[in-house]
Amino acid sequence: MNIKRIGIILIIVLFIFGCKDEEEPEMPLAQSTVLLTVGNSKNLAAMLDARFNGKTITWSSSDSTKVTVSASGIITSNIISFTTAEGGSKKYTEGPARAEALVTAKTPDNKTQEFKVIATTEAQEKIMDLPPLKDRFPPGFLVGNIATGSSVSGTLSRHFNALTSENGMKPEKISNGRNTSTGVINYTWNNADSFVKSATDLNIKVIGHTLLWHSQIPQWQKDMANEPNKATALAAMKTYITDVVTHFKGKIYSWDVLNEAFPDGSSGIWKDKIRPENPWYKAIGSDFVYEGFLAARLADPDAILYYNDFNTDNSNRANLIRDMVKEVNDKYLALSADNKPAEEAAGRLLIEGIGMQEHHNFGVSAANIRTTLGKFKAIGVKVSVTELDVLAQSWSDYSSRNAVTNNGLLTQADLYRQYMAVYKDFADIIERITFWGVTDNQSWRSTGLPLLFDKDGKAKPAYYKFVGAIPTTW
Ligand code: G3I
Repeated sequence: MNIKRIGIILIIVLFIFGCKDEEEPEMPLAQSTVLLTVGNSKNLAAMLDARFNGKTITWSSSDSTKVTVSASGIITSNIISFTTAEGGSKKYTEGPARAEALVTAKTPDNKTQEFKVIATTEAQEKIMDLPPLKDRFPPGFLVGNIATGSSVSGTLSRHFNALTSENGMKPEKISNGRNTSTGVINYTWNNADSFVKSATDLNIKVIGHTLLWHSQIPQWQKDMANEPNKATALAAMKTYITDVVTHFKGKIYSWDVLNEAFPDGSSGIWKDKIRPENPWYKAIGSDFVYEGFLAARLADPDAILYYNDFNTDNSNRANLIRDMVKEVNDKYLALSADNKPAEEAAGRLLIEGIGMQEHHNFGVSAANIRTTLGKFKAIGVKVSVTELDVLAQSWSDYSSRNAVTNNGLLTQADLYRQYMAVYKDFADIIERITFWGVTDNQSWRSTGLPLLFDKDGKAKPAYYKFVGAIPTTW
């Protein structure tokens, strides 16, 4: 067997098959060696999963004269050790590894068997050797990532068909001043223009991120918080949105018009809960939401307009977002056609999409995400997963800067699987899944190793689990 190509040899050395024969209940367990096949993954951890519990496997012997059992069963035990070839302290994603597990399996007719699994693997596959991630999804589905510079790398173009500039199109990067006498705003387009051209030349869709935010904004926008004249602030906001959206008109697939309007822990009436440090809210009041989206629609009717936020798995926060989006959309639906773009389809929403950022950790349950998706679906909007990354540890371990463990990487992998399984169930409303980075070391949360690829560009268990959860038919 070619270990490099196949990536893994999985051998079971065993105590086997304690398949108790009804007629020979006192017989000792036979010992044998069999080959265990669990799916066709090339990933060690995916095969030798710390969370075998509840999984169905099939097993068979290469020598049917020694082992007679060939059936499906449920594995009920956990992994007992995991060490790398180098000696145990390194994460297995960094090189060849060996793992052992004691497994108890149960056949459908309730016979149990116990055996020890030993698995070895070569290093994980490299990102450029893997099939394009975008090809695993149906045509038209957007699989995105972030661009950190003003040109698109080969890695990004191989795997992704949508790109968000991580920081390059935020207000502080786009605009550097406003003349308070004339109201004319100064812009710095060069880097953003290069990025947009580089992506669109490769037929990659560009996500505009973001127009209205409280963070990463130029001083003149911060100063708006103290603008006493609401009309002046409203005019400045509309001018900014109109200028930027018009500048990129026809090149942006969707805009994150408003980002993170609510602080952590918010609940209640959305209009009262917008974060006070948002200068537009401070100067204009909650009307800035509707007015901002309307200005964007009028400037580029072809762009899809999104509201984008984090912690959307939190039920109170999901309610606030839902209420805000619905109220803004209802107001727009009541607006006369004369005040909308020409030839706009009747019934078109203003906020057509909600971006669920999905910056997760061990505390975020797939069930909560499912509940939130149900709430958003009920108001008729699309959803995009806009900034997916999952810490390989708990929030408290991450905050304490504790090191990620091997088991942490396996738990992370399983969370990626669970989340993808939920996204699949909402494939009718989800139009994009964007990861917030490619390799762990590039991440804004790099110590939590939150992405699908390690610092050397090798696929982690998270990659295999996530990909394994993508259905082959939709
Ligand atoms: O550009 C300066 C550089 O000149 C300076 O030397 C350096 C020193 O720290 O800082 C650089 O700016 C950093 C900037 O990223 C560009 O790298 C900022 O400090 C840093 O705070 C900023 O972080 C970004 C963060 O947004 C700011 O809020 C992250 O890269 C970016 O990933 C993150 O993205 C946000 C989304 O836009 C919205 N949702 C949450 C997500 C994660 O926070």
